[in-house]
Amino acid sequence: MTRILLATNSEQFERSVRDALEYEGGLRWWDDDLAAGVDLEALAKELTSTGAGVISIGPGVRPETAIEIADHVDKIHPEVSVIVVGALNAKLWERALRAGVRDVVSHKADADEIRQVFWRAAEATILARANLMPDVADSVKKAARGRVISVVAPKGGSGKTALSVNLAVALAQRHPGKASILDLDLLFGDVTNALLLNPEHSIADAIDAPQLDPTLLKVLLTRRQRDLFVLTAPDSPALGEMVTNDLVSSAIDGLCSQFEYVVVDTAAGLSEVTLAAIEKSDDIIFICDMSVAAVRGLHKVMSALHTLEMLREKKRHFVLNRADSKVGISISDVESSVGMPVSVRIPSSRLVPRSMNEGTPLVESAPKSPVARSVIEVADIFSPVDGSAQGAKARRWRQ
Ligand SMILES: Nc1ncnc2c1ncn2[C@@H]1O[C@H](COP(=O)(O)OP(=O)(O)O)[C@@H](O)[C@H]1O
Ligand SMILES: [Mg+2]
Repeated sequence: MTRILLATNSEQFERSVRDALEYEGGLRWWDDDLAAGVDLEALAKELTSTGAGVISIGPGVRPETAIEIADHVDKIHPEVSVIVVGALNAKLWERALRAGVRDVVSHKADADEIRQVFWRAAEATILARANLMPDVADSVKKAARGRVISVVAPKGGSGKTALSVNLAVALAQRHPGKASILDLDLLFGDVTNALLLNPEHSIADAIDAPQLDPTLLKVLLTRRQRDLFVLTAPDSPALGEMVTNDLVSSAIDGLCSQFEYVVVDTAAGLSEVTLAAIEKSDDIIFICDMSVAAVRGLHKVMSALHTLEMLREKKRHFVLNRADSKVGISISDVESSVGMPVSVRIPSSRLVPRSMNEGTPLVESAPKSPVARSVIEVADIFSPVDGSAQGAKARRWRQ
């Protein structure tokens, strides 16, 4: 949903809006500079840095001040809708229009009017954002379908998310604006945390839409540092449950029509949505660690996929995570149990949990670390750089 922020010192107005919109959380933001009418450009920056799509200003702020802040907001973020709360004379109306103020409403407005004004503003923001969104991605040739890479493992905690986010960031570094990641761990997805995002939308916002067309897809994406586009999982498991296989399939179709690379981080096991993603994938990365349970689990997953004939025409890769663990089985044991050679090994490192907690992927924050180098080897599979074949060999981490 589009986030709403009320810049006011009036708890009464906050209550009215909360009741009208049937919203339970807090909406209010206040700084004494608003009443004093000073430092308006800085205030506009602070207001927009919250990520709000609709900002109402007042009561408690003079209309002249509110209009001037709206003017600054319009310059920084023209897609954000500003509502002035107060009464304006004709002259102020004119100034408000020139400042790009979306609407004006009295603080005494009834619930119906409040609802209408705020929904209209939210709609305008959604449309404006859709128009402003991935212009870089538009440069991708529409005819060329992007490569869909799903990261799959039978067990939670195998390192799917750690690999997915680092791989997506590595691909975005090489192909700015042309890489995307879809978080298909619909109940407990943590791509948002691992990339330090503050998304306004998730795939679940398309549940009631008649179809996930390119305009809606653009609205639902969260952009990370201009280079990488993310379709996040909802933050409530209840919403995650409502995402259907069809929606997942059309999300992947939409993403690969817009981006050269679509990395899909999946939930543990082979849920129906994971199967839907595998069906749409060009490449599957199977990942497991050195535990007997994980290796057995992976063998079972691969057998099931063979039985379902879902691996035909798919490129398969096998990444062994925490490959330096001394747990009494060797890498060749793992390879023969799984029935596939290891493509890339990733060592254990305390940097991994730390970087995931901090939201700073290692390929960016510590590109020379052994883990980041291993992920870069994985990226080389999909996006070879000159001499990367030899480079990958030379860089290969050894036990
Ligand atoms: N190579 C590694 N070394 C150390 N810790 C790791 C490594 N890979 C993953 N982890 C940690 O293990 C936990 C599970 O990883 P995660 O990527 O979330 O797994 P999954 O997505 O498969 O459930 C996380 O805390 C992560 O930081
Ligand atoms: Mg995960």
